[in-house]
Amino acid sequence: MTKVLGFDIGGTKIEAGLLDETGREWRTLREPTPARREDLLQTVVTMAEALGRGVAVAAVGFAIPGSLDPRTGLLRNAPNSPQINETPFGCDLRERINRPLFFDNDANCLVRSEVRFGIARGYDHVVGIIMGTGLGAGVLSGGRMIQGWRGLAPEPGHTVLHHHGRACLCGNRGCAEAYLSGTSIYARYREAGGQPLAGKAKDVFARRETNPIAGVVVEETLDLFARFTAGLIALYDPALIVLGGGVSEQVTYYRQESAIAAYAFGTDEVPPIRAAGLGPTSGKLGAAALALDGSAPVSSAG
Ligand code: BGC
Ligand code: NA
Ligand code: ZN
Repeated sequence: MTKVLGFDIGGTKIEAGLLDETGREWRTLREPTPARREDLLQTVVTMAEALGRGVAVAAVGFAIPGSLDPRTGLLRNAPNSPQINETPFGCDLRERINRPLFFDNDANCLVRSEVRFGIARGYDHVVGIIMGTGLGAGVLSGGRMIQGWRGLAPEPGHTVLHHHGRACLCGNRGCAEAYLSGTSIYARYREAGGQPLAGKAKDVFARRETNPIAGVVVEETLDLFARFTAGLIALYDPALIVLGGGVSEQVTYYRQESAIAAYAFGTDEVPPIRAAGLGPTSGKLGAAALALDGSAPVSSAG
C-alpha cells in the first residue's frame, strides 16, 4: 500500500502524518510553528525524517497558508506566515527532503481531503472555507480544482468586505479576513471592549449568551459570514460548502443557510454548509491526497 506524508503548515502549528491511500494515519506529529524561517524548515525536515523512518514514503504533500507561484518558486499570499512568505519555500524543502514534494493552498487541501476521504465524497462542485489564523477558500468546480493561471486562486479572504475597514496583514483595508478569520474575530471582540480570554475565536462564541460584547461580535460575525458566503455561492454555485478552522462547528450550529438565503443572488436554493467532517486533520489529509494524486501512475489527468 502506498504511503505518503501529509503536512499542514499552519500559522500556529505544524501538523503532519504518515498516511496510506485509504486516509488511515499510521504516525502523527504536531509542533508549534517556529517564528524563524530556518527553524521552520528544520522542524519540517526533522518531522519528515521521524515520520518516514523505516518506511518507503512515495511522496510528501504540503498544505500551505498561501500558494507556490510556479513561475518564480516563491511562496505567495501568506500574510499570516511572514517568516516564509515571499521565500522559495518549495526549493528550500526540495533541497532538504529527498522525495517528490507537492504543495497546495491549505483551503484547497481542505477541499481535496473532504472530497477524497470525507463528507464531500461524490461531489463535483464544492467550496471549502477555512476560518483559521487567516481566511481562505478552495473550490472544486466540475470535478477540478480552480487554481488560476499562476496557481494562486482562489483567495476570497482578501477581497474587500468593508470599504475603509480594518487593516489586513496583507496591507489592504477591509479584507474579509480582517473580520472573519479566527484571529480577527477575537481581535474584534477585544476592540469592542471585551475582557481578555484565552485568545481564540472559539472562546468568544462560547460566551455569546453570557457576555453581551461576545454576543454582539458573534452576531456580526454570522452576518458577515452570510454575506461573504452568499458571494461565494454567486461566484461558484457549489452543491456543498465545507467549513474548516477553529469555529466551524460553532458557525454551522447556527444553520446559516437561511441567513445566507437573505443575501443570495438569484436563488433561494442555498447549498448545505457543513463543518469539515475530518476536523482538524483535514489539512494534512488533503496534503496526503495531493501527494497520492501526484505520485499515482500518471493517467490522462488534466
Ligand atoms: C491566505 C490564504 C490561506 C488562508 C487560510 C490567508 O491569509 O492568503 O492563502 O488559505 O489565509 O490559511
Ligand atoms: Na485557496
Ligand atoms: Zn487582506
